[in-house]
Amino acid sequence: METIMWTVDKNVDNLKTYPQILEAAQKLKENEVVAFPTETVYGLGGNAKSDDAVLKIFEAKGRPGDNPLIVHISDREQIHSFVKAIPEKAKSLMDAFWPGPLTIILEQKSGVLSQKATAGLSTVAVRMPDHPVALALIEASGLPLAAPSANLSGKPSPTAAAHVADDLSGRISGIVDGGATGVGVESTVVDCTAEVPVILRPGGVTREQLEEVVGEVSADPALKDADQAPKAPGMKYRHYAPNAPFYLVNGTSAQIQELVQEKRNEGLKVGVMTTLENKDFYDANVVIACGERSRLETVAEALYDTLRAFNQEDLDIIYGEVFPEHGVGQAVMNRLTKASGLAIIDK
Ligand code: TXA
Ligand code: MG
Repeated sequence: METIMWTVDKNVDNLKTYPQILEAAQKLKENEVVAFPTETVYGLGGNAKSDDAVLKIFEAKGRPGDNPLIVHISDREQIHSFVKAIPEKAKSLMDAFWPGPLTIILEQKSGVLSQKATAGLSTVAVRMPDHPVALALIEASGLPLAAPSANLSGKPSPTAAAHVADDLSGRISGIVDGGATGVGVESTVVDCTAEVPVILRPGGVTREQLEEVVGEVSADPALKDADQAPKAPGMKYRHYAPNAPFYLVNGTSAQIQELVQEKRNEGLKVGVMTTLENKDFYDANVVIACGERSRLETVAEALYDTLRAFNQEDLDIIYGEVFPEHGVGQAVMNRLTKASGLAIIDK
């Protein structure tokens, strides 16, 4: 299959009338699948009401069928056709964070969405992305769009159109290139079907921000305990992994450099994932700075591009620094822990 690349400028007015957007929307109406930018990562969109379109999404990504998709909307009115009721706390969260990097799980009305999109669950994950290209495309298609991150299953999520092309070229109908995404990590997934909202996946909206709006928020215990089954099916899979074994080191730069030196003495090629502040400290085969430690949002923004960059290098082992788990640091550490397959060295 030839994958069409549509390039658009996200800053122009009235995007939804642009020929690139109309062409991409037409593909979606024909139940084809198309990748598009959101403020978090690129998504691979398809008609959430069509089994045919949803199967194409799963097939292109090589995604296990038990992992449900997020349904993306451009207008809150769209929700009522497929959601049973919106609890007060969910409404407050929508008022505060939509459009934006927050996905809300609600009970769904049966018979509207493809049951393949929601993996047969009684609930549905909904989000309104804060990106003009995503909003224009959803509106022009007139459809709720099921869209997982537009990477091959297991790879880091794409934060640029080139990442999508690397993974999915030849497997999908097209890619709308609207430039690099901003937040860099995926949306926060919060289950609003119980009285106290539960974070199933940390992401672009922090726990602190959620609590400011709705008071107490809990977190799925599986986020901290690898022996428990996560409530978001996707959280059980290993993700984002670089090709070489990747170890997180809870220690000082000097301790990390010691580990690097030991491995180099054994003749191995060693990579280090650090930040701008510490970059010059290390002596390794490849040293990549992932944003600035003093501004965690820049680490989130650069995270997946950095993990992908390590795959361009021929390395035997990679060591990574850890980050404080406050604010968006929670999402960063969640993704890094997964990328390491829980390989953490405590110094
Ligand atoms: O930022 C994002 O959320 C991006 C962009 C494209 O919007 N999308 C994204 O989708 O990250 P995906 O499919 O890679 O991750 C969706 C997560 C998975 O862990 C999935 O298991 C969970 O949300 N999920 C979806 N529907 C669910 C439901 N009904 N109940 C529990 N978890 C659900
Ligand atoms: Mg994903």
